[in-house]
Amino acid sequence: MTAADLQQRARDHLWMHFTRMGGYGDGQEVPIIVKGDGCYVWDANGKRYLDALAGLFSVNIGYGHGEEIGQAALEQMRELPFYTNWSYAHPKAIELASELASLAPGDLNRVFFVSGGSEAVESAWKLARQYYAARGEKRVRHALREPETIHDAIVAAGRGPHRYKAVARHIAYHGTTMGALSINGIPSLRSSFEPLVPEVRHVHNTNRYHRPAEESEQEFTRFLLDDLEQAILAMGPETVCLVHMEPVQNAGGCFTPPAGYWQGVRAICDAYDILLSADEVITAFGRLGHWFGSERYDIRPDIVTCAKGLSSSYGPIGAVIARDEVMEPFLDATAMYAHGVTFGGHPVMCAIALKNIEIMKRERIVEHVRDSEDVFRAKLETLLDLPIVGDVRGTGFFYAVELVKDKETRATFEDDECETLLRGYLSPALFDAGLICRQDDRGDPVVQISPPLVAGEAEMDEIVGILGDVLGEAARRLL
Ligand SMILES: Cc1ncc(COP(=O)(O)O)c(C=O)c1O
Repeated sequence: MTAADLQQRARDHLWMHFTRMGGYGDGQEVPIIVKGDGCYVWDANGKRYLDALAGLFSVNIGYGHGEEIGQAALEQMRELPFYTNWSYAHPKAIELASELASLAPGDLNRVFFVSGGSEAVESAWKLARQYYAARGEKRVRHALREPETIHDAIVAAGRGPHRYKAVARHIAYHGTTMGALSINGIPSLRSSFEPLVPEVRHVHNTNRYHRPAEESEQEFTRFLLDDLEQAILAMGPETVCLVHMEPVQNAGGCFTPPAGYWQGVRAICDAYDILLSADEVITAFGRLGHWFGSERYDIRPDIVTCAKGLSSSYGPIGAVIARDEVMEPFLDATAMYAHGVTFGGHPVMCAIALKNIEIMKRERIVEHVRDSEDVFRAKLETLLDLPIVGDVRGTGFFYAVELVKDKETRATFEDDECETLLRGYLSPALFDAGLICRQDDRGDPVVQISPPLVAGEAEMDEIVGILGDVLGEAARRLL
């Protein structure tokens, strides 16, 4: 098919996600990506781009491993193209589950497979809801003497079905299915679909850039933890089953946690007997220089959700990983987590994920991120010389550059200025210059940089060079 044919058919038939489709009606080209290698992709016109977003924060090993991963997929296709995890197991799901149990910290030993990140988040919340009911039932069953119904006994014991609420953070993105969307803290994504699933409260995220200058890191941590605890108390702690947060929050621009934050969150969850879930859809599989971001910050979650980097997005697969203690009530003879999806643990996707992990180990990709993150950060920090760059933050291979109108006051751009700056100028200018990264104004305006984890100094220099030129021009136009 020619490039022109592809254009026409894309306009006529393809409905792209989170895309203003009307923007392609007036001769504006649909960007059509046709191939990739390493950190680079090519469009249908043959133009090359450095993909500083790794697809969607997800092609961790880069684009060059199609042959090897394809071979693993082919072998699995020949052997067993599909079987289900509903009541059955198969070797690749078993192998991948045990590999994940060995890579995940602590006793995160039990793996429930799904097809992607939203499904993982959806499943984590459902798991938390059912966990308290299952745990309550188990305790009540052991204690029952009178012929009561189990349900009445659970309610009388004040446990079980009443724990259904979740806590997440403002501006955090956790996916788009109704449960995951309800956990999502981005008002503009939620508003069209309300009423959402009851009941989620959003607490402060760890964005420190706009906090008072005189506030210490310790005071900031205290402020955040007080806010979390107050929210839980206001909701009724006995009704809350889940606190769900990313190790480093992506939306809003790579908010890293202040010292002591995760230890405090863990302590609050323990005090109120609430499950802590780390959303590692982006941060797992090397993005932060560890197999799991939870390791980096010693988060000790009860549940981890992951997807994207699990297969480096060579196939759609996600997972919920639970601690032994979370699994325990479901090991009763008649207990069951009442949840499943047809493609959860698809054998071909498991074979792809296993090969991806094998490549990551062989090529020491996680170590590469840890070894070169300081160099990457130092290069990105040179952008702070530009008048429009207020902050560079993040860690590992996961950064955001916040754009400001005034560096002194840290004043941000108004909505219409964001529209002109991000959509009107930056997006097309960066793309024209051959750089794919994300311009995001779900919080304050940021440019997000999250390249494949195989990026070396040459790619880092190219990213910083293009960003410097384009952001410099943006400053000249706008400030
Ligand atoms: C932290 C986080 N959770 C969940 C999701 C949803 O994942 P998916 O798009 O695979 O459904 C995303 C997607 O970007 C994410 O970043």
